[in-house]
Amino acid sequence: MKRVDDFRLRLGNKEYVPIMIGGMGVDISTSELALEAARLGGIGHISDAMVQDVSDRKFDTTFVKDKTKTYKFNINNMDKAVVQFDLERLAEATRLHVGSTMAAKKGDGLIFVNCMEKLTMNSPKETLRTRLSAALDAGIDGITMSAGLHLGSFALIADHPRFREAYLGIIVSSVRALQLFLRKVSKLDRLPDYIIVEGPLAGGHLGFGLDWAEYDLHTIMDEIHAFLRAENLDIPLIAAGGIFTGSDAVSFLEKGAGGVQVATRFTVTHECGLPDNVKQEYYKASEEDIIVNGVSPTGYPMRMLKNTPAIGSGIRPGCESYGYLLDATGNCSYINSYNREVMANPDAKQVVVMDKTCLCTHMRNFNCWTCGHYTYRLKDTTHKLADGSYQVLSAEHVFKDYQFSVDNQVALPEKQETAVV
Ligand SMILES: Cc1cc2nc3c(=O)[nH]c(=O)nc-3n(C[C@H](O)[C@H](O)[C@H](O)COP(=O)(O)O)c2cc1C
Repeated sequence: MKRVDDFRLRLGNKEYVPIMIGGMGVDISTSELALEAARLGGIGHISDAMVQDVSDRKFDTTFVKDKTKTYKFNINNMDKAVVQFDLERLAEATRLHVGSTMAAKKGDGLIFVNCMEKLTMNSPKETLRTRLSAALDAGIDGITMSAGLHLGSFALIADHPRFREAYLGIIVSSVRALQLFLRKVSKLDRLPDYIIVEGPLAGGHLGFGLDWAEYDLHTIMDEIHAFLRAENLDIPLIAAGGIFTGSDAVSFLEKGAGGVQVATRFTVTHECGLPDNVKQEYYKASEEDIIVNGVSPTGYPMRMLKNTPAIGSGIRPGCESYGYLLDATGNCSYINSYNREVMANPDAKQVVVMDKTCLCTHMRNFNCWTCGHYTYRLKDTTHKLADGSYQVLSAEHVFKDYQFSVDNQVALPEKQETAVV
């Protein structure tokens, strides 16, 4: 019986343990988590979502405070078009986050950064160019382009000295999205080094509609394999979404996948950036608690726990401090929903907004509990302790369980006597 460790992911002329830990913004996939994957010979992701806030928390910088001060005059204005990112400061925050992670890297693996196109930041092209270039400047091993088709993203960095040296990959959920992307990059004579195929059971935003349950990762992988073979393209495919055991991973590796990308099982590790009480919410969840809804202002469906405090909170939009989802015209669908409720309830101290949520503020405060479909199985991967809480795991334990387990088994950790807070 095969196990994940019988396979290797080949990138360039090197081989890696074929396990990627997926990017989870905002700083849920911390540097510590990514560094563990790299130390163990696999690939870890950090995320550049809300990187200025991440930098403030990690390095005592004051990017958010300074931006809030600059745009304070606009806080009561419904129109947010004036709120812009200072590109030099955005680059500085990215270089700090990426550079410090790369400086701490040990082992034979790699660190990539997850860059979501949907973070349009009131100037989609220029802010994305700045984020990608700054990550390359700071020595990142690779960039995974996600949450969007990224049709113009390679071109934004084609002049960067590391454009052909760093690993560049794309996340797709259909053969059609991949075809569109490849058509665009063919003009640059630069193919992606890997393709992550994300199925409908993943966490975060989904590349499917609300009919996500009609799709299946194995089928999409087969279609994309067939397409690449027909085009004579030899690009490693990484399967993602709902891969819960080492045996699940092997089922893709045996069919020719180069690797797997996993995330949910790492949300309950010490290295994961979620606060301890939120990790316990993930453990406690039952299948009925996990929903896919349309509250994200990105327009993509998002999977989350239904008791997530972000739903219905009606918080005032925090664009003057954050503004990561402002589109090219300075708008965000949450602002529209919020303004609609304020106008409909002029005397209310606090409005309730059900159809959208202020994702920047809630992700920043870990109040939007996005999660993978199999979150309800996490409780089976650990021990329940005497105080009723679930034992948090180490990233090494989970990584090695994927790497070495067989027969759909999940190895339990050594039991702690009391919960470590
Ligand atoms: C809490 C959480 C946050 C996530 N955030 C992001 C993100 O910011 N960007 C992204 O491309 N994918 C994101 N994902 C998707 C993961 O990177 C990964 O591809 C997917 O969840 C793998 O499936 P699994 O969770 O079933 O293992 C997130 C997943 C989780 C569980």
